Amino acid sequence: MTENSPVVIRKFQKNDREGLRRVCYSTGFLGNPVSTFLSGDEIFADAITLYFTDYEPGSCWVAECRGEVVGYLIGAKDARRVCRPGILFRIFMKSVLSAALFKPKNLLFIGNFLISLLKGEFSEPDFSREYPATLHINIQDGLRGANIGARLVDAYLGYLKEEGVRGVHFATMSERASNFFSKQGFKLLYKGKRSYFNYILHKELPLYIYGKRLAE
Ligand SMILES: CC(C)(COP(=O)(O)OP(=O)(O)OC[C@H]1O[C@@H](n2cnc3c(N)ncnc32)[C@H](O)[C@@H]1OP(=O)(O)O)[C@@H](O)C(=O)NCCC(=O)NCCS
Repeated sequence: MTENSPVVIRKFQKNDREGLRRVCYSTGFLGNPVSTFLSGDEIFADAITLYFTDYEPGSCWVAECRGEVVGYLIGAKDARRVCRPGILFRIFMKSVLSAALFKPKNLLFIGNFLISLLKGEFSEPDFSREYPATLHINIQDGLRGANIGARLVDAYLGYLKEEGVRGVHFATMSERASNFFSKQGFKLLYKGKRSYFNYILHKELPLYIYGKRLAE
């Protein structure tokens, strides 16, 4: 696959699921593989993508290059639907049955995550009334900066407007993604911080929430 191969942006189809999940776990840690901090690629992919691909596939897009998924934008028209008890239970059971929950690498992450939670770092405002929809986007390493992200965002925003959705918001801890979304006309709604990767990065990460209104 080369950077010059044509990249098609199209709606997600069922048989894209595996490729989409692969992009998810190979880019899920600030653009790098999630194995940096977690042992359990499939569990991570469940946590990030399962609602979108299995419950709301009509709001998902992929970028395809030579028959392979190289990027995706997964969306939901109502962000409040994403966190479903059934999905959380499934992830918990998979973590227990595969023994992933008890791996030292994962226990270290869970411990740091819980400390962050207790420090109140997850108490950001809820923007889902004014900006009901949400999204996740990731492009495979080696194909970034080739306008794929912008094309995926355009496709999704066009769809949300057609569906009469008032606005969209999402959170990111990536400084680079934050610059990309400013360029796509998103407004910074909130800035916080997250410390649960300090043990890897030796610094706190910013938490940005961006939003865009689509209709009055
Ligand atoms: C962030 C990401 C989705 C952007 O997609 P992309 O395909 O690389 O970006 P594009 O090529 O479509 O960029 C579109 C525009 O944004 C600009 N842009 C992209 N990344 C930028 C950055 N880091 N800083 C400033 N501008 C940026 C481009 O220069 C381009 O501007 P132009 O229209 O004037 O040429 C992609 O780089 C990515 O997946 N990164 C790693 C994982 C990640 O951070 N995901 C987001 C989690 S919310």
